[in-house]
Amino acid sequence: MDNRVYIFDTTLRDGEQVPGCQLNTIEKIEVAKVLEQLGVDVIEAGFPISSPGDFKSVVEISKAVTWPTICALTRAVEKDIEVAAESLKYAKRGRIHTGIGTSPYHIVSKLNSNPEEILERAVKAVKYAKRFVEDVEFYAEDAGRSDNVYLARVIEAVIKAGATVVNIPDTTGYCLPYDFGEKIKFLMENVPNIHKAIISTHCHNDLGMATANTIAGVMNGARQVEVTINGIGERAGNTSLEEVVMILRSHKELDLYTNINTKNIYKTSKLVSNLMNMPVQPNKAIVGRNAFAHSSGIHQDGVLKNRENYEIIDPVEVGINESSIVLTARSGRAALKHHLDMLGVKLGKGKLDEVYQDFLVMADKKKDIKEDDLLVLVGELGHGERRIKLDFLQVVTGKNLVPMATLRLDIAGEKFTATESGNGPVDAAIKAVKAIIHRKVTLQEFLIQAINKGSDDIGKVHMQVEHEGTVFNGFGANTDIITASVEAFLDAINKIGNSEIVTDVK
Ligand code: KIV
Ligand code: ZN
Repeated sequence: MDNRVYIFDTTLRDGEQVPGCQLNTIEKIEVAKVLEQLGVDVIEAGFPISSPGDFKSVVEISKAVTWPTICALTRAVEKDIEVAAESLKYAKRGRIHTGIGTSPYHIVSKLNSNPEEILERAVKAVKYAKRFVEDVEFYAEDAGRSDNVYLARVIEAVIKAGATVVNIPDTTGYCLPYDFGEKIKFLMENVPNIHKAIISTHCHNDLGMATANTIAGVMNGARQVEVTINGIGERAGNTSLEEVVMILRSHKELDLYTNINTKNIYKTSKLVSNLMNMPVQPNKAIVGRNAFAHSSGIHQDGVLKNRENYEIIDPVEVGINESSIVLTARSGRAALKHHLDMLGVKLGKGKLDEVYQDFLVMADKKKDIKEDDLLVLVGELGHGERRIKLDFLQVVTGKNLVPMATLRLDIAGEKFTATESGNGPVDAAIKAVKAIIHRKVTLQEFLIQAINKGSDDIGKVHMQVEHEGTVFNGFGANTDIITASVEAFLDAINKIGNSEIVTDVK
């Protein structure tokens, strides 16, 4: 049996059904393109009969995307199938996903029917869809609560009718992993023509078992998984793509692989969360804010000695630059030293012990210690004895004006002045600094944050500057954001080392 597991992403169909998560067509195209870069095999782009907006989205996604198969959902209803086929006319590879409920609940109380009639309707729908596209997926809705013997009959019949993929959804998220695995195994062993189709899982998370059920499914023969980014979806959501992909990647003994470019996982998660207004819970596996954050002293020390002591996934593999060592009252000296090293602050053992005691006092009062708090602790944020200091700054800016900055620097007691223009006041001021201090520096990161929320607030600026392959961090805080930016830039420059300062006196 092939070891490749196909990733069928239904973020734009099952995920988008969530109230408040609706996207317009342009946003859906953006998500679809990012899913393509991620390497998904199938994008379920919508349920075309449900609304003109869904129809249009399937059409536009079909035009915008090249590699993944584009799939359109239908009920086992001829009109649905015709509309889905029409919506897929631009797809390079199109799939119709049609189906019907097969559990006693669905057969009797939803469809007011009986098992034989449902089987007939299932076959008819697949045959009808085959008139339009070669690739037809059949879903047995509520398969999780369907009788296995009956389910096997339906699956055999729809494969005979031409289904290329058979989807076994745990629609209500009821199954236990063992039972769901056994269901897939039963179908593998009792549907004579099962080798002519791929079995797909589609698990919901009502009892928090969607990922476990999906993995049980692939361990027993399913080779397609229906998933969403961040696990969004109806009620408690669908199986999350990132969890399944990283489980298969981490557990090599399963000998299963996907086509996912895992380094794109984090950015895809962020995009979906932002566009759909669905924050990711901080402790969400793989993509949550705390997924790679270590806060207790014992763990921090262990991670700093060897990441694998407490991490089973290298965050870089999912597109997160590094594990984060969070500073709290439970952090040890190793974590404090790690942060100070990153800030370019080197302390001897005695001084580190001293700062650590102050740090514990601060951490008891403040839940979250940031890097600039550390600089205050070690007496650097006040820009105490810096060789290069900002002595004077004036900027002229406004609508239809070319921003200009004049500044004077005090370098070891001598004064130097420069005036420069720029595409904004910060750019002009940084250029004026560079006109005085000739250093080959590249600004790598520039982050402005307000400390509170009012317009009278203090702005904090964090700059990362690269000089000859080394990165220097600079911080500045001021009610004037341009002054804060210059202070941050000078803070980084001061850390480069004094010997190389070259000045032009203006
Ligand atoms: O959960 C489900 O059963 C579904 C089907 C329509 C595939 O979403
Ligand atoms: Zn579903």
